[in-house]
Amino acid sequence: MAATELERVSNAEPEPRSLSLGGHVGFDSLPDQLVSKSVTQGFSFNILCVGETGVGKSTLMNTLFNTTFETEEASHHEECVRLRPQTYNLQESNVHLKLTIVDAVGFGDQINKDESYRPIVDYIDAQFENYLQEELKIRRSLFDYHDTRIHVCLYFITPTGHSLKSLDLVTMKKLDSKVNIIPIIAKADTISKSELHKFKIKIMGELVSNGVQIYQFPTDDEAVAEINAVMNAHLPFAVVGSTEEVKVGNKLVRARQYPWGVVQVENENHCDFVKLREMLIRVNMEDLREQTHSRHYELYRRCKLEEMGFQDSDGDSQPFSLQETYEAKRKEFLCELQRKEEEMRQMFVNKVKETELELKEKERELHEKFEHLKRIHQEEKRKVEEKRRELEEETSAFTRRKAAMEALQSQALHATSQQPLRKDKDRKKASGWSSIYSVTIP
Ligand code: GTP
Ligand code: MG
Repeated sequence: MAATELERVSNAEPEPRSLSLGGHVGFDSLPDQLVSKSVTQGFSFNILCVGETGVGKSTLMNTLFNTTFETEEASHHEECVRLRPQTYNLQESNVHLKLTIVDAVGFGDQINKDESYRPIVDYIDAQFENYLQEELKIRRSLFDYHDTRIHVCLYFITPTGHSLKSLDLVTMKKLDSKVNIIPIIAKADTISKSELHKFKIKIMGELVSNGVQIYQFPTDDEAVAEINAVMNAHLPFAVVGSTEEVKVGNKLVRARQYPWGVVQVENENHCDFVKLREMLIRVNMEDLREQTHSRHYELYRRCKLEEMGFQDSDGDSQPFSLQETYEAKRKEFLCELQRKEEEMRQMFVNKVKETELELKEKERELHEKFEHLKRIHQEEKRKVEEKRRELEEETSAFTRRKAAMEALQSQALHATSQQPLRKDKDRKKASGWSSIYSVTIP
C-alpha cells in the first residue's frame, strides 16, 4: 500500500457502532438540562422598528407586549435617520427576557432620502461587529454577553392602498441580507377590506419582482410546518395597534373606537395582529434568533474574516491554518509597509528636488534684479558725479569772477576815496566864510 493511501486510511473517522443499553442510564434528560440552563441564563430578543414617523410603531410595540414602554414622539425635523435602542427586562412565568426595541427615528422625513437606509445598515453591522470582537477575544465571555444583534426587523408599510414607495423597496433590499424582515401594513383600520386584499397582493408582487427576500416562517419543523405555511400566505400582516380598552359585550378588549364602530385589535376578522403576535413571539421567536446567528451573522463573519485575509483553504485545498494565515498576512503587511515607505521616500526626494529647482529659479531672478538695480544705481551715480563736477566748475568760475569783481571794486573805491577828500577841503573853506557872514550880516 502507498504511503499516502496508508495515511488516508489511518485518518479516516471510524464508523460509529450502535449498541443497545441494558437499563436506564439517564442521558435522556439532556433536553431538560438544556431547558433548565437556558431558563436560568435568560433570553435576549431584539426588534428593529422601521417605518415613517407616526406610522404606529410605538403603539404596536406596546400592544404586542401588553405594556407601556417609555417612548417619546419623534419630530418630523430630524436631519438624518437616528437609531434609538431601548432595553427592558421582562418576565413571564419564570422566563426572563431582555428585550431591546430599536426605533429608526426620523425615517422618511428628509427631503433627500438617498442615504436613509445607511444608518440602519450601519447599526446592524455594528452589533454584528461587537459580537465578532467578543468571539475573537482570547478571554471570551459569550455566556453573559448582552447580545444586541437584531433578530427581526418589523418594516411598517404606510397604508396608502397604492404600492410600495421606492424608499421602502430600497431599504428592504439593503436590509434583507442582514436581518429577518417581516413586512407589516400599519394602521390597517384606515383601509377597506377589498382594498387591503389588493394592496397585500401588490406589495408581495413588488417584493418578488425587486428580489427582496423577506423572512419566511420555517416549514421544516413538523410541529409548526402547517401553521407557518398558512401564515406565510398571509404576509404582509395588516395590523392595528391600540392600548385603549373598550367594553365589547361584557368584556374589556383592546380596540380603537370610532363613531361608526369599534376595531378590535385581537379580533382576527378585524386585523392580523393576533397572527403577527403568534408568529413573532409564540411560534418563531427561537427561529428568528437562530436565523440571525446561523445565516445573517455567519454571512457577516465570513465576509469580515475573508476581508481580513483568512481563508478556510488555500488554492491547493490545504486545510486552514491560523498560524500560516497569520504569517502570510504579516509578510504581506510588511511588504506593503516597505512599498509605502519606498513610495514616501521617493516622494520626499522628488519634493526636495522640486523645491531646490524652485529656489534656484528664485535665486536667478533675484540676481537679475540685483544686477539691474546695480546698473541703475551706477548710472545715477555717474549722473550725480557729472552734476557735481559741473557745479564745482561753476563754483570756481563764480569764485574767480567774484575775486575779479572785488579787485575791481577795491580799485574803484581807492580811486573814489581820493576825490572826496579834496572836495571836503573846498567845502570846509566855503563853510568858514558863510559862518563869518552869519555872524556879521544879521
Ligand atoms: P414616532 O415614534 O413619533 O415615529 O411615531 P410612531 O410610529 O411610534 O407612532 P405612534 O405609535 O406614536 O402613533 C402615532 C399616532 O397614530 C397616534 O395618535 C396613535 O394613536 C395612532 N395609531 C397608532 N396605531 C394606530 C392604528 O393602528 N390605527 C390608527 N388609525 N391609528 C393608530
Ligand atoms: Mg414612536
